[in-house]
Amino acid sequence: MKLWGGRFEGTPDELMERFNTSIGFDWRLWAADIEGSMAYARALERAGLLTADERDRLIQGLEAVAREFEAGEFEIKPSDEDIHTAVERRLGELIGEVAGKLHTGRSRNDQVATDLRLYLMWEIPGLRQQLIGLQEAIVTKAEQHLEVIMPGYTHLQRAQPVLFSHWLMSYFWMLRRDRERLDDLEKRVAVLPLGAGALAGHALGIDRHFLADELGFRTICENSMDAVSDRDFVAEFLFWAALLQTHLSRLAEDLILWSSAEFGFVELDDAYATGSSLMPQKKNPDSLELLRGKAGRMVGHLVALLTTLKGLPTTYNKDLQEDKEPLFDALDTLKLALPVAAGVVRTLKVNAGAMAAALDDALLATDLADYLVRRGVPFRQSHELVGRAVRRAEALGLPLRELPLAEFQAISDAFESDLYAVFDHRHSVEARDSYGGTATAAVRQQIERARAVLHEQA
Ligand code: ARG
Repeated sequence: MKLWGGRFEGTPDELMERFNTSIGFDWRLWAADIEGSMAYARALERAGLLTADERDRLIQGLEAVAREFEAGEFEIKPSDEDIHTAVERRLGELIGEVAGKLHTGRSRNDQVATDLRLYLMWEIPGLRQQLIGLQEAIVTKAEQHLEVIMPGYTHLQRAQPVLFSHWLMSYFWMLRRDRERLDDLEKRVAVLPLGAGALAGHALGIDRHFLADELGFRTICENSMDAVSDRDFVAEFLFWAALLQTHLSRLAEDLILWSSAEFGFVELDDAYATGSSLMPQKKNPDSLELLRGKAGRMVGHLVALLTTLKGLPTTYNKDLQEDKEPLFDALDTLKLALPVAAGVVRTLKVNAGAMAAALDDALLATDLADYLVRRGVPFRQSHELVGRAVRRAEALGLPLRELPLAEFQAISDAFESDLYAVFDHRHSVEARDSYGGTATAAVRQQIERARAVLHEQA
C-alpha cells in the first residue's frame, strides 16, 4: 500500500523504493505510532470528524495491530515504506474502509516527529535508572576502599598522593552532570508536534492540548512549521549520549592503563575480560576498550545528524529520515555500556599494595614547599628551593627523604631537621581537607553529598 499514489502515473524504480524505505529501522516506532494514532482518533471524534463508533473501531483495530507487534506476528510487506504506512495498511486490512479516516488532517510529517519524541520520552526513564546504577556502583566502591592511597597524576606524571576513592568519585560528578543534562533535555523532547499537519497547521479543529495530555507531552510546539522541522531534540540527545560515552571512555582509559602489568593498580574481574586466541597468558580489558571505543561512534552520530541538519531548508525534508538510526544506535549502545561500566566498577579488584609501592618521595615535593611557606618563605621562592632539592637528590641518586640535612640547608637555611616529617603520604592526603579535597574526612563528606544526590534523584 502507498499513502500517496493518486497523482502518480508511473511506479517508482525498484532501487529507489529500497533507497526510500525506512521500515527496516523505523519499525521500532510501532508502539509510539499506534499510541499516537489512538490519541489522534480520540481527538478526531472530539472535533466531530468521527462518530464515537468509528473512533472505537479505529482504536480496537489499532489495539489488534499492537497485539500483532507484541506477539512478533506482524508481517511487514515489501510495500510498507515506513512504520506509518505499515500500521495504516494493516489497520485497513483488519477494519476496512473506516481506517481511511484516521489520517484526517494529519501528515506523516507531524506524525513521525511525534512518534520519535514519544519513543525517546519512553526511553529516558530507563536510561536514568541505568545512570543511577553506575553512580551507585561508584559510590559504593569508593566507600569500600576509603583507606587506599595512590599517586594522583597530571600529564600522566606522578603529581600528588590522593585517595583512590577521591579519584573514583570524580566520575560520580561527571555522571551527575549527565543526569542534570538528561533532565533538562527531556523538557524539550516532550513537546508535541501532532496537529501541525504537513507544515501549515490543522484545518479541521483538532485540539492539540488534548492530544498532548493524552500522550503525556508537557507542552506543544508553538509553530507548525517548526514542529515538523525541529530535530534539535535528537541533536541534544546525541550530544548528551556522546558526552556521557566520553566520560565512560575516560574512566575506561584510566582503568586500562592501571590494569597493565606496568601499573598493576587494579584487576578486572574475569566477567569483564577476554582472552587471546594465541597468547595463553593474556587477560584483555575488552569491556573497557569497548567503553572507550564506542565514544568515537557516539560522537560520529552527533556529527552525522548536525551535518544532515545544517543545510536543510525549513520544515520537513526527507533528509530528516536520517535522524533515526543514530538515535536508535546511541540508545542501544548506552543501554549496554552503562550496565557494563557499572559491573566493571562493582567487581573491580583494587590492588592497594601496588598503589602504595608507586608512592615516591617526589609526590611530596608540594608538601615540602608548603612546609617552607609555613616558615614564611613566599611560595614562588619555596617552589624554586624545593625544585633545587629535587634536582640535587636526583644527581646524588637518592630519594628526597634521604637527602642529608646539610644538602637541604646548603640550598636554604629555612630548611630544618623537622622537614623530614613531611615524608608521609598519609599526612599529605589528610592535609588536603578543603571542601572537595582528598583528605579522608573531605572525601567522606563528598560521599555523603553524593548519597544525598542519589537519594534526591530517586
Ligand atoms: N519515513 C519518514 C521519516 O522517517 C516519514 C515521514 C515521511 N514524510 C514524507 N512527507 N515523506 O521521516
